[in-house]
Amino acid sequence: MAKTHRKYWFRMAARSAYLLIRPSNTAALVDKSYDRISPTYDRAWTDHMRNLTEHLIDRLNPQPGNTCIDLTCGTGFATSLLAAKTDTTVTGVDRSQGMLDQARQNHAHNCKFVQADILEFLKNRPTASADIITCCWGLGYSRPFAVLRQIKRVLKPHGKVAIIDNSLFSLREIIFCSFLTFAENPRALQNVMHFKFLPGPRTLRTMFAMLNLKTLHSDQGSRSYTVDTGRDAIARLKSTGAAAGFEYASGRTDDTAIFDRFAQIIEDKYMTPDGIKVTHRYLAGIAQK
Ligand SMILES: C[S@@+](CC[C@H](N)C(=O)[O-])C[C@H]1O[C@@H](n2cnc3c(N)ncnc32)[C@H](O)[C@@H]1O
Repeated sequence: MAKTHRKYWFRMAARSAYLLIRPSNTAALVDKSYDRISPTYDRAWTDHMRNLTEHLIDRLNPQPGNTCIDLTCGTGFATSLLAAKTDTTVTGVDRSQGMLDQARQNHAHNCKFVQADILEFLKNRPTASADIITCCWGLGYSRPFAVLRQIKRVLKPHGKVAIIDNSLFSLREIIFCSFLTFAENPRALQNVMHFKFLPGPRTLRTMFAMLNLKTLHSDQGSRSYTVDTGRDAIARLKSTGAAAGFEYASGRTDDTAIFDRFAQIIEDKYMTPDGIKVTHRYLAGIAQK
């Protein structure tokens, strides 16, 4: 007979609450994850999602000579698209040394990469100094409203902002399995991530409206892939950055017992004859000052 694993929901909730009120180490763990995966990030994530980012930049329609900033630039994919369309030097900003190393290696032409926290970077920029500011797949790691407020200040009149990001419910099936894993073993939970991914495009539009930015475009969607095993699902999530920070929830990325159990629960819940479907849900928006 299958072994029954008891769930300790109350203990897990109490442990999560305790970890949430502790000073957050989320930023350090996210940096550690992105530094680690940076050499393979483009193959794992950019190639899978590149056309979503491309469509957003096409829709944004940057003009030759526009001054652009690409926040959370990572390995520089969007930065280089902006540079090609504007034929001017574009500034990419990211905190991860590993991601910036890849960016500098692959996108030297017309791109300047700066290592900084995006909010601190924006606070130090002059008012009304940029035509275009993008933030692709990274807003939820920071404080979205504070970042958007700074973006509005830094944009010139009629300047445009474009955002694309994972939604709060992006990997809901996998996140549910992670709750089940730690509910069996609350003491194994060492780090709870302080992320602020937005629930959907409506929240982004509301933020634009609160800042008196005019929404020009808003959408949402999803992209799925199928893997053969629970372990494959976890490996893929780790290599795309979708598990950035979270992979240290139990303190170590190589915590075999926890990851084995996590993989097992994913298989128990979501295995189909075709494999396990993993779905990323995203939101996007463009607004004008
Ligand atoms: C999913 S990657 C996106 C990279 C790139 N924009 C792309 O489209 O592929 C998220 C990036 O955000 C960066 N990041 C997360 N929080 C940050 C922050 N507060 N300031 C600067 N960079 C940050 C990470 O280092 C990582 O490179």
